[in-house]
This record gives sequence, structure tokens and C-alpha cells, in this order.
Amino acid sequence: MALSSNKRSNSTEEVATTEFSDISSKLEIFLLTALLKRSFSVKVENLNPFLSIEKINLKEIVHLNPAVEPLSWMLGSWISEPLGEGSYPTIKPFKYMEEVQITHVGQPILNISFNGFNPETKKPMHRECGFMRIKPGTNKVAFISAQNTGIVEIEEGEVKDQELTLASQSVARMSFAKEPHVQQITRTFRLTEEGKLEQTVFMATNQQPLLQHLHITYTRSS
Ligand code: HEM
Repeated sequence: MALSSNKRSNSTEEVATTEFSDISSKLEIFLLTALLKRSFSVKVENLNPFLSIEKINLKEIVHLNPAVEPLSWMLGSWISEPLGEGSYPTIKPFKYMEEVQITHVGQPILNISFNGFNPETKKPMHRECGFMRIKPGTNKVAFISAQNTGIVEIEEGEVKDQELTLASQSVARMSFAKEPHVQQITRTFRLTEEGKLEQTVFMATNQQPLLQHLHITYTRSS
């Protein structure tokens, strides 16, 4: 009897312990979920609803995919400082302002947008968006880009330390694109010792050889 009562009391303790650990792990899960929801919703609530998910500071939420680590120095929001300079033998030299967003969403890809503006009127000028990928296990980079002028292109090249050099492998355009037609594009991105991002673009058209079109330095804005 005593034994059986002991047994009962042991098993009651066991049940109580199991129930307690069940409750405590449920509580843990509940608290963790609430915490996660809160930290995510705080970030989402703070956003302008017209901003895309990529503009959330994803570095805090999603880890950078190691595949694109060699390009991590490009990540961030950048603004031209000083103004960019454009030239070509056939056009009047010009200055321009440009905003750049280089983000990631945890994929082995960087998402890129360039938005150029007239520095005086602030009217939109050239716009471009695309993706950068790295051939796994190499320093070979591909930049896939679509431009508002009706051009789409794929550039390939290499990243070495904090410098990326690219040359177009294919350039295509809409059937009603204005002449001159771009035939070739080369670019260099470089992180300077002062932590600024520099871009230089050369192009060849069906009327001119490969010559510099753009040079711009960006300061990190976030
Ligand atoms: C890879 C990027 C770019 C390519 C391939 C490109 C291509 C071209 C081409 C083919 C021309 C015509 C040249 C000629 O008439 O001989 C041109 C002109 C021009 N581009 Fe770009 N461009 C690029 C980026 C930009 C950017 C970022 C800006 C400024 C935000 C810009 C501003 C201009 C201006 C102001 C002209 C002169 C337009 C005119 O006089 O009618 N371009 N570009």
C-alpha cells in the first residue's frame, strides 16, 4: 500500500514535472514568437508603406549569403558626392546626381538600382536596375542590368579585393531604341581608402569607339 502510494506520488511528481516542462517550453515558444513578431513588426511599422521589402535593413534580419561576401563592400545606400560627371565626344559634358541601392535578401545575389537625376531640376534621368551574382568558388562576377533607355545587358568580370571590373558580354535593345546604339560597356567599381564607392563607365556605340561616358563617386547614405 505504502509502496503503491509512493509509486503514485512518484508518478504524480513525474506528471507534474512533465506538465511543468511542457508549460515552460510552450511559454518559451510563446515568448520567443512574441519577441520575434515584435522585433519584425517594429521594423515593418516604421517603414513608409511605399518602400519595398528590400529597403528594410535586411543586414539585421537576414544574413548575407556567403557566396556574395566578396562583394559585401558594395552593400548599402549611396549618394553621389560630389556630383557625377558625364561626357562623350558627341554630347555636351554634364553633371548628374545619383542614388544607388545595393541590397540583398539572403540569396546569393545582390540587388542593385541606380537612379540618376538632374542636379538642378531634380528631374529623373538615367535609371538602371539589376542583379549581381558570383560563379560559386570563383571571383567571377555577372551583372545583369536593365536600363530605362531600352537596353538590357549582361556584364561579366572579376572582383579583386575591393575592386570590380566588368565588360559587357551581351547588349540587347528594344526595336525602337534611338541611335546611336550602344555596342559595348565596361565599368569599374572601387571602394576608396576613404570608404567611398567609385564607378567609371566606358561605352562604344555604332558611331564611336570605347570611350569614357561616366565617372562618379558616392558617399554612403546608410
Ligand atoms: C551604362 C549606363 C549608360 C549608358 C549605356 C548610356 C548610353 C548613352 C548613349 C548611347 C548616349 C548617346 C551618345 C551619343 O549621342 O553619341 C548617351 C547620352 C547621354 N547620357 Fe548616357 N548612358 C548611361 C548612363 C547615363 C547616366 C547615369 C546618365 C546621367 C544620369 C546619363 C546621361 C546622359 C546624357 C545627359 C546624355 C546626352 C543626351 C543628349 O545629349 O541628348 N547616361 N548615353
